Amino acid sequence: MIHASLILDPAYRVGPVRRRTFGSFVEHLGRCVYSGIHDPASSTADADGFREDVIALTRELGVSTVRYPGGNFVSGYRWEDGIGPVESRPRRLDLAWHSTEPNLVGVDEFMRWSAKAGTEPMMAVNLGTRGVQEALDLLEYCNVEGGTYWSDLRRSHGAELPHNIRMWCLGNEMDGPWQLGHKTADEYGRLAEETARAMRMIDPDLELVACGSSASSMPTFGEWERTVLGHTYEQVDYVSAHAYYFEEDGDLGSFLASAVDMDHFVEAVVAAADLVRAQKKATKRIHLSFDEWNVWYQHRAESRPPSGTDWPVAPVLLEDRYNVADAVVVGGLLISLLRHTDRVHSASLAQLVNVIAPIMTEPGGRSWRQTTFHPFAQAAALARGEVLRVEVQAPLYETARYGEVPLLDAVATRDPETGETVIFAINRSLTEPLALDVDLRALPGLRVLGATSLSNPDHTWSATADDDSSVAPVANATAAVTDGRLGASLPPVSWNVIRLGK
Ligand code: AHR
Repeated sequence: MIHASLILDPAYRVGPVRRRTFGSFVEHLGRCVYSGIHDPASSTADADGFREDVIALTRELGVSTVRYPGGNFVSGYRWEDGIGPVESRPRRLDLAWHSTEPNLVGVDEFMRWSAKAGTEPMMAVNLGTRGVQEALDLLEYCNVEGGTYWSDLRRSHGAELPHNIRMWCLGNEMDGPWQLGHKTADEYGRLAEETARAMRMIDPDLELVACGSSASSMPTFGEWERTVLGHTYEQVDYVSAHAYYFEEDGDLGSFLASAVDMDHFVEAVVAAADLVRAQKKATKRIHLSFDEWNVWYQHRAESRPPSGTDWPVAPVLLEDRYNVADAVVVGGLLISLLRHTDRVHSASLAQLVNVIAPIMTEPGGRSWRQTTFHPFAQAAALARGEVLRVEVQAPLYETARYGEVPLLDAVATRDPETGETVIFAINRSLTEPLALDVDLRALPGLRVLGATSLSNPDHTWSATADDDSSVAPVANATAAVTDGRLGASLPPVSWNVIRLGK
């Protein structure tokens, strides 16, 4: 048994819990849109062809914003292909994923889906093969009430009221050589600034996201952010960050410590943004939109797009099956995002359905929750009020990737109105339960309202359509408050949630 402690104190406030931390992502990629959210062949399809089971799971997951329509896809996308009568829409080659895009779902369908799922849209414009004018046309189509070419066209397509989309991404991963229309930081920074300035002429209150780095391992990392923000600082509100993690060469210890990398990533981007702020003597701060993050086993065969002469519609792509350890890592990454709530103002779990996703579907058939569904759903449901930094005292272990790392990682939230306080914690030990001791002196009178743990002696267990519930969070009866201290035993390789209140 390992022993670790932490101090809970409302004075250690980081900032508010933001609903937008619990965003996700729907890309025209593989089976995310077609047979994911949209599947007229499914018995659960509604009149628009949307799967009601997926809508229900999206609501259960607690998703706030949904980024759309890509991803790499957006860098070659003509948004006009996806509007108007479905039977007249063109089929196009999607170069990013070597697929055929049937354009059965476009911006109006996505907006209808968002309303049904209770999510806020976050729209990306194509700054790969296109530019300022096409972004302006899309914005006019979406946000202008009427009386102009594009807004009247929208109305003629049945969307009387403007979509009124607030958050817009200025392209996607423009630092990546794999991206259609890949640019240098200077080239992209200038284009993003021109696009943002023009978009604000239509709608000054938009919230605009400039592309940051597609990984902290990119050779341009840091310099990219400084250059891009040098061009765009006055026009944008956020800079994006993307990060994917996976277990490499059986090194589970490093993998479980993935949040260490996310912490560094956020802190380095904040430093770059604040440096530009100081150089410009600006008052406003640029915040982070961590709009792609997840576990993604990129070396697996199904992660590679098809090649050759075959350009399938909705191929099986990036359909990672997540195990218990993956769920614990996702929990750790959520802890990192919450811990940086002062600067990470938006985040998107990439993606929502079938493609590196917490929700899976069979075409026309069943849907189910992957293991990674649970930490996200619990954090989205229970994190309320303010985020509290916790002072962790835990034994360290040696990792190949990050050096010495504490076996315990945790964060807490506290709702000042109800006093409900929630601890989110992971035990990274592969073998030992962790005896947690929490100093509650600054929050007297709390008792345990409920505690759960997600773990399994076999951390490689994965959910299937036949069984997505035999490894779900279960009550942890060891959690108890005695003499102003909380004690609990956290199983090895586990994600844990402890709710405290009066
Ligand atoms: O989420 C999968 C892909 O990962 C996205 O299309 C791209 O932006 C990133 O490289």
